[in-house]
Amino acid sequence: MSAFLNETVTHVHRWTDSQFSFRTTRDPGFRFENGQFTMIGLPINGKPLLRAYSIVSTKYDEYLEFLSIIVPTGALTSTLSKIGVGDSILVGRKPTGTLLLDNLKPGKNLYLLSTGTGLAPFLSVVRDFETYERFEKVILVHGCRTVAELAYHDYLTGELLQDEVVGGMVKNQLIYYPTVTREEFRTKGRITDLMTSGKIYQDIGLPPLNAETDRVMMCGSPDMLRDCRTILEEAGLKEGSQHEEGEYVLEKAFVG
Ligand code: A2P
Repeated sequence: MSAFLNETVTHVHRWTDSQFSFRTTRDPGFRFENGQFTMIGLPINGKPLLRAYSIVSTKYDEYLEFLSIIVPTGALTSTLSKIGVGDSILVGRKPTGTLLLDNLKPGKNLYLLSTGTGLAPFLSVVRDFETYERFEKVILVHGCRTVAELAYHDYLTGELLQDEVVGGMVKNQLIYYPTVTREEFRTKGRITDLMTSGKIYQDIGLPPLNAETDRVMMCGSPDMLRDCRTILEEAGLKEGSQHEEGEYVLEKAFVG
């Protein structure tokens, strides 16, 4: 059996010149947990070229959805960005990843910290009813350079609240906090600065990060992860894994 499934593109959405998302069919045998990633790609010059992509859609959806940046010099994304409805995509049969509720100790507030396409796995997590059963408040932070890069902003402030299954929980428990660094916006600044200055806690009306009550998942660039990790460790949070639950988990966003 091949290590890859052949799925068909059913929808493409271009957010900016450097960011797009797309949906594909989903083989009924393809199973994953919300928050996981899998390898996806295309045959290029006769060989499969694959990269790790977090799955935007949930395990309950009949389709798969992915969010991608476009790196003009990137071997995969430069070609992948040209896909259209009806095209075929390779999807790895073995999803994996650490951004799982099960890797975190029970807590009160769940922070989902993301920059750029690091938002992808959290779109799945915020549509999972278990997230709201396990945590009182879920704070989704998305940091981007520009307003246009705040992918899914309108979905997160609109359609998601009407979702049949989680809409009610989202209204009461989800706090969506988009922030922009290089343009005017209602919330500005890097996630790290917003945390160290305490501004984010004032804005959302929650106390500063606390290892007893708060759990964190993060996904972004290596620099963002390093700097956020320092803040979490200073607050006394410890990293979790499949083997041992912790107070935070992280995953590198797809970068090149
Ligand atoms: P900034 O504009 O100040 O660099 P990128 O597109 O480079 O991945 O950045 C996405 C977002 O993440 C930008 O808003 C960027 O802010 C921010 N960012 C970059 N590096 C860090 C970091 N080390 N900690 C927190 N945010 C970061």
